[in-house]
Amino acid sequence: MPQKGQANQADKETLESKLIGLRSEVEALQREVRYKEEQMRNLIKDTLDAQEAERECISLEVHDGVTQTLASAFQHLQGLESTELEGTHAKQLLLQARTLVKQAIQESREVTNSLQPATLKDLGLVTTLRYEVEQLEGETGWKIDFKADDMRLPQNVEIGLYRIIHEAINNARKHAQTKRLRVRMTSSGNLIRVEVRDWGAGFNYSCGETSRGGGTGLLSMRRRAELLQGTCNIESTPGHGTAVSVEIPFSGQREQYG
Ligand SMILES: Nc1ncnc2c1ncn2[C@@H]1O[C@H](COP(=O)(O)OP(=O)(O)OP(=O)(O)O)[C@@H](O)[C@H]1O
Ligand SMILES: [Mg+2]
Repeated sequence: MPQKGQANQADKETLESKLIGLRSEVEALQREVRYKEEQMRNLIKDTLDAQEAERECISLEVHDGVTQTLASAFQHLQGLESTELEGTHAKQLLLQARTLVKQAIQESREVTNSLQPATLKDLGLVTTLRYEVEQLEGETGWKIDFKADDMRLPQNVEIGLYRIIHEAINNARKHAQTKRLRVRMTSSGNLIRVEVRDWGAGFNYSCGETSRGGGTGLLSMRRRAELLQGTCNIESTPGHGTAVSVEIPFSGQREQYG
């Protein structure tokens, strides 16, 4: 018959081997979770890359197709204007057609631009934002305090930041009911910092959730920052406004791109 001490020793060994088994199961599960997370990140990245490629493609199609056709229709109408037309009615119709075609050209340019601004690739993020902020001030009567360090970043970083800043500004425009907005983009050391702040309505935001539900904008800003190995922090207080702060690590040469 085994002694009491021997029995305890056997129980202890069984428990230890169970514990080792459990530990290795936990480790296997943790590896599985990490693998799935990596897969998810890759999937999101591929989706966003495909979305950008698609946007560029549609933008080129519209630019080279509809916009060009409208531009030549506009020229024909201008040519007709200088010829003798019988009756004021015909002249009026011509003028109306010309106005509509001009409007359609403007609209198709806006579509092209919103899909992917040509200036983003050619002149870079800072110049594009400066121009768009000026346009927005003109359209809305807002006072936008815009300051950005001069920099060119790799294309994927510029596109990612452009989409984040655009969404933050759009949200302020749609939801904040304010005319005061600040946009900052600075580069110091190995960090690019972006902040879009408004002093408007604000909202309840905690753990990535809004009390009012809403769309996909906030989520997509955070995902885009993560894809650039950075962070996107959203702080909002009802009645006091909202701040979107993004930090992206970047140690490459800033002037090399463009
Ligand atoms: N700057 C802001 N000021 C006030 N409320 C905001 C602001 N930004 C976001 N919100 C609130 O958070 C919700 C979620 O924002 P989110 O950008 O995810 O969705 P959305 O703007 O409603 O739709 P989508 O971006 O998909 O077109 C909004 O519906 C709004 O209630
Ligand atoms: Mg939004």
